[in-house]
Amino acid sequence: PNVPVLFDASILQREEKIPEVFVWPQVDRPSTDLALKGRETEVPLPIIDLGGFWKNDEKATKEASDVIGKACVEHGFFQVINHQVSPDLLTAAHQHISLFFSLSLMEKRRAQRKLGESCGYASSFTDRFANKLPWKETLSFEHSPSSDVRDYFVKAMGEDFQDAGNVFKEYCEAMERLALGLMELLGMSLGIGRLHLRKFFEGGNSIMRLNYYPPCAQPNLTLGTGPHCDPTSLTLLHQDEVGGLEIFINNKWHSVRPNTDAFVVNIGDTFMALSNGKYKSCLHRAVVNKTTPRKSLAFFLNPPYDKIVRPPDDLLDSDHPRKYPDFTWSVFLEFTQKHYRSDMNTLAAFQ
Ligand code: SIN
Ligand code: FE2
Repeated sequence: PNVPVLFDASILQREEKIPEVFVWPQVDRPSTDLALKGRETEVPLPIIDLGGFWKNDEKATKEASDVIGKACVEHGFFQVINHQVSPDLLTAAHQHISLFFSLSLMEKRRAQRKLGESCGYASSFTDRFANKLPWKETLSFEHSPSSDVRDYFVKAMGEDFQDAGNVFKEYCEAMERLALGLMELLGMSLGIGRLHLRKFFEGGNSIMRLNYYPPCAQPNLTLGTGPHCDPTSLTLLHQDEVGGLEIFINNKWHSVRPNTDAFVVNIGDTFMALSNGKYKSCLHRAVVNKTTPRKSLAFFLNPPYDKIVRPPDDLLDSDHPRKYPDFTWSVFLEFTQKHYRSDMNTLAAFQ
């Protein structure tokens, strides 16, 4: 488990039949090629306009927090627009993903993820989310007071990657601003005050992951990302116009229509524990397609490694007893890396 396996995507995506290691069990397979999917499987995630929140408009802020709270009680997924992340920065970030993943395998391997590490390049690996290999390449790195994204790029990939480092550092800073803003709305929606969660997550050990899904000759046999709940606290996902994200709601997989103006936001296991189970961390996955490569950027907000995750007293009473034990992000992260199975709820297994 967790042994990085390298394959050369530039060769694999030209094969007519995919290797056996990428063929997932029947139960996990997408029902059909994404391109053939009808709209009935689409889930209309609420779109929250953050314009009023940034302007401190009281009514708009209250409304935004109400809609977010409702979505989080139901399934933990929503979208935000007017997020204050500049279109130029998004374009630059997507360009650098394309640049990085179009490098030769040898060049990408300079940043290769090592056994037991959560950062670096992995083209496909028997990861904790899968029994089978996912059809994707990733580059992950940490954003925290002790890890500078620019330094990471230059150290892992060399001086030529200063530009990429600058862009992704700026991107991570924008993500942190947005995620902490959303923590104010989440705090309001839980009735625990506007600043409680924001303070809790400030200076956290966050992770950024760039995903690249090459085209696949047999997309109905495999998955880009296997079914999983994010172990992290809050995920901000920006996907390109291709589509592929799916969410498991009411016992069915639903696709999310791509919207490049929006971020898809979801609650992770750590936040679910922090809310004493009130806000849901929901199973999701990504499918691939025959013709078009897909890019997505996932920013995972986490608390600082050593901060104790414990629901605020306001969320606890005799009707709402503690559901999960105290833990720190570092302990929970280690647990998920060792014990994750897609057919098991990590948080429930953690007790
Ligand atoms: C993930 O949840 O890890 C990836 C989702 C995506 O690429 O859409
Ligand atoms: Fe995820």
